[in-house]
Amino acid sequence: METRTLLTGGLGQLGSELAAALRERYGEDSVIVTDVREPDGDLPDRFYQLDARNGGDLAELVTRERITRIYHLAALLSAVAESRPQDAWQINMDGLFTILEVAREAGASVFTPSSIGAFGPQTPKDFTPQDTIQRPTSMYGVTKVAGELLCDYYYFKYGVDTRGVRFPGIISNLTPPGGGTTDYAVDIYYAAVRDRRYTCFLQGDTYLDMIYMPDAIKAAIDVMEADPERLRHRNAFNVTAMSFSPEDQAAYIRRYIPEFEIFYDVDPVRQAIANSWPNTLEDYAARVEWGWEPEYDLDLMTADMLRTLASREIA
Ligand code: SER
Repeated sequence: METRTLLTGGLGQLGSELAAALRERYGEDSVIVTDVREPDGDLPDRFYQLDARNGGDLAELVTRERITRIYHLAALLSAVAESRPQDAWQINMDGLFTILEVAREAGASVFTPSSIGAFGPQTPKDFTPQDTIQRPTSMYGVTKVAGELLCDYYYFKYGVDTRGVRFPGIISNLTPPGGGTTDYAVDIYYAAVRDRRYTCFLQGDTYLDMIYMPDAIKAAIDVMEADPERLRHRNAFNVTAMSFSPEDQAAYIRRYIPEFEIFYDVDPVRQAIANSWPNTLEDYAARVEWGWEPEYDLDLMTADMLRTLASREIA
């Protein structure tokens, strides 16, 4: 069957690059992008402005476009969710519920990103296992755990083919992330190229998992294409490519920009969120069940980010 994909949150950090990768893979005409926002610049191909909580419009679009797969990326990230917890519950949970209902009616499969935010202070911090304690203390984490469970429920109860991964911080250079705790790891590269210095909102020794965009895209596509017979887990595969602290990242940037300096002005809210998350994930289940293997480590990513941003700066 032809794969026809709809993205929600399609103008965001992940959506904007995933849409392009999906077009390349499944055909120009096969990808429909939706977002609650209006695009800033040019209208992307096949774009519809739509709130993912609007089930009626969504169902109509899914039917009209013969959608077989939904990437539901619309959500508030951790720091914004912590400042607007009521909105976060509404957007993250009502949005997901609506998507799952539309998918159930249409027989579409659904990808939903979970996150390292689905873990909490009682979770083992190092090599955090796939199946472990999940008692997050942020509203973002609460919605992520509830989302993992809801997606499992729709699979077991209704047979909706729901799948997902727990993403670490995603680093990229096309569309900036909005309001996450891991955003510093993106901002630092822009600042390094522009100013040769960066003031970080997390402490220098805070370790978090990260992934470079090409690997994040690969994970999102590969888990949806995995042989269902091999999947013991479904909605919340740990995936990671690297774990580092701001100090480590600054040291790698100095390999390419020796005069780079890092300073700290710690934001207590984001620091508390980061402290409640794992230092390093263990992603064995994803490797065994669908062949997950990242390509980029901190050095490769740093080289690529700095090269790309510098060439754009000069252009
Ligand atoms: N990057 C996300 C955040 O910081 C984590 O999933 O909110």
